[in-house]
Amino acid sequence: MAHVLRQVTEDLILIAMGGRRVLAQADCPHRGGRLLFSHVNERTLRISCPLHLSSFDIVDGKVASGPACDPLRIHAVLPEEGELP
Ligand code: FES
Repeated sequence: MAHVLRQVTEDLILIAMGGRRVLAQADCPHRGGRLLFSHVNERTLRISCPLHLSSFDIVDGKVASGPACDPLRIHAVLPEEGELP
């Protein structure tokens, strides 16, 4: 299962995998790591920051592990097809 991770705006990234598309904040809530360069685990549905390896649930943004205290802001969960807002 392949995933897509791309910058949509300065503040937003798109994470697409397994029929799910999520718009999330582009900078890690810990210390601003650029999540465009993160690791996406398609099995656990988590994204891991490249700086200090905090991982976040892609569906609800909750911190799953690592030093981050604040959740990742999820701006939208979109259907598989259709235009980005
Ligand atoms: S900046 Fe992302 S975990 Fe520290």
